[in-house]
Amino acid sequence: MNKNNMSLFENALGELDENSWLDSLEKLIPSIHEVDKVPTQIWFRFYPLSLHRYLQKSEDLEATLHGFAMQGDYSLLDQIDSSHSFLYGHRYWKDIKHAIVKRAESFEGDSFDFDSEVKTLAKSVANALNQDESLLTGITLVGLMTLVQVGLENFENAKGELTKPSGLLKKSPDAIVKERQKEDKQGLFGFLKTIDKEFHVTWDESNPTAKFKAIYDEEIATAAARDQSQNWLEKDERCGEGVIPVECRAAACGTCWVGVVSGAEKLSDVQKMERKQMKIFGYRQGEESKPFMRLACQAQAEGSVSVVIPPWNGVFGKKVYGNVEKITLEPATTSAAKLREAIDEVTGSDKN
Ligand code: FES
Repeated sequence: MNKNNMSLFENALGELDENSWLDSLEKLIPSIHEVDKVPTQIWFRFYPLSLHRYLQKSEDLEATLHGFAMQGDYSLLDQIDSSHSFLYGHRYWKDIKHAIVKRAESFEGDSFDFDSEVKTLAKSVANALNQDESLLTGITLVGLMTLVQVGLENFENAKGELTKPSGLLKKSPDAIVKERQKEDKQGLFGFLKTIDKEFHVTWDESNPTAKFKAIYDEEIATAAARDQSQNWLEKDERCGEGVIPVECRAAACGTCWVGVVSGAEKLSDVQKMERKQMKIFGYRQGEESKPFMRLACQAQAEGSVSVVIPPWNGVFGKKVYGNVEKITLEPATTSAAKLREAIDEVTGSDKN
């Protein structure tokens, strides 16, 4: 194994900053099958390169994490083979990983065109597996970014164990897309109903029981808290109320962020507060009125949606991106007040 060649490949990828990655992702979206178009974009928001690099450079990581009010598992190092289990392409992970390592071995520092690298890798694995290239493009991008954040040695040495496709994700890509577009039936006189319409929020497409009910115009975090079918706290210490972690319910803490895999258009429009806060938190939400990254305590259901819950949350926008607007935060709970201190520290909102 040629370690020197491997580091050349890592170095070439390492030249790209987060915006370059997102630009390439944007350009490659048409080449990604519909089933993974949004999930791939969500994954890139869940694991921001700028945050990773900021933490890597930190001289006192513990203090930085404390300052960012970080909770949960933010590091890809612990999730090399699992962070992308919500992508259809997750099933090809072993093959993609192998192809990336091989490419790293053969790379000699020749001219490097990132978009072509992605396409060539996706095509080679697709051909070997007799699959459509569009099903491999998203997971290839994810594989390359994982490599950048964890380093080639860790990437190669991760066991490569996969979560077997199950639930909705067991179906064909087209069947999954169709299923995501389905709306809950509202009964015989459903067309007469307005406020008591009932929908579903799916939070893990690989598990048929991973969904809770929401009524018309209800914030999805509020709907999640009504589902007490499991001891959520036992599964994730951030989940004091339901499967979606919450603290303030007032767009003040950043705990409840989710990626909306399908149905973003069936959530209420982003309001000014959520828009500003997402920047402060550091979560990269698009400028559209119904983006695929949302705060679950603000987004109200007007139809059935499917979401992914990130394994961590924090407040790092100003330190990492340096471009957030200052606003006054009103803590809604005692724990939100604690977070407020961290937020003030991060944004300097009480000092500048
Ligand atoms: S619960 Fe604090 S921002 Fe949603």
